[in-house]
Amino acid sequence: MQRSRLKTALLALAISASAGTFMAPAFAQTAAPAASTEARTSAPFTLPELGYAYDALDPVIDAQTMELHHSKHHQAYVTALNTAVEGDAQLAGLSLEELVATAGQRSATVRNNAGGHWNHTFFWQIMAPEAGRGEPSPELSAAITSVFGSMDAFKEAFNKAGTDRFGSGWAWLIVDENKQLAITSTPNQDNPLMDVADTRGTPVIGNDVWEHAYYLKHNNRRADYLKGWWDTVNWTKVSENYAIALAK
Ligand SMILES: [Fe+2]
Repeated sequence: MQRSRLKTALLALAISASAGTFMAPAFAQTAAPAASTEARTSAPFTLPELGYAYDALDPVIDAQTMELHHSKHHQAYVTALNTAVEGDAQLAGLSLEELVATAGQRSATVRNNAGGHWNHTFFWQIMAPEAGRGEPSPELSAAITSVFGSMDAFKEAFNKAGTDRFGSGWAWLIVDENKQLAITSTPNQDNPLMDVADTRGTPVIGNDVWEHAYYLKHNNRRADYLKGWWDTVNWTKVSENYAIALAK
């Protein structure tokens, strides 16, 4: 397998590998196996199933916020992306991962909506109902302690990246090009896979700090949302993301 194809396959695995019964395959247009890149990435793109109930993350994220976020906001990114690539043979032939990786060469509409689709699909997978959250793997725990000093120090630094992001965007834990964990943030619907990202790498954790992710319950208190959000994290899935990112 060529290196580019291998990277594409690993990226797809990173955002589609599910933990137990938690999540339907990302970007699935049918019930195709999660490992099939081709089954997920051709336009038209579709809204992936959330994999849990809208009230499963309550009290951190309320059901109405989850329903609007998934069925309206994420759907809007999918719909707009499909409209943008429809009728454009060059764009329609690219996978979502390829659209994201080359975002700097695309229109703002494609960049924003491809990012919005990728980011939200990733986001739904790294949260879970209480019974499905698991624990960080020993490897991930050791890396976090090595880089940040402790899990609490890591969360504090991640939350700061989220609160410091002016306006709308995302906070990320990534594996960078040196295979090291790093915290970064991106504006709007950009992400660290994009060629336009200031700090590039493979996402392990990403938190949506757009107001639509928290405003109904937390109003303007983004810091409260960030602090509470850790109680929703699917550490089993996050640990898988870390292992896959290291293997790239
Ligand atoms: Fe969002």
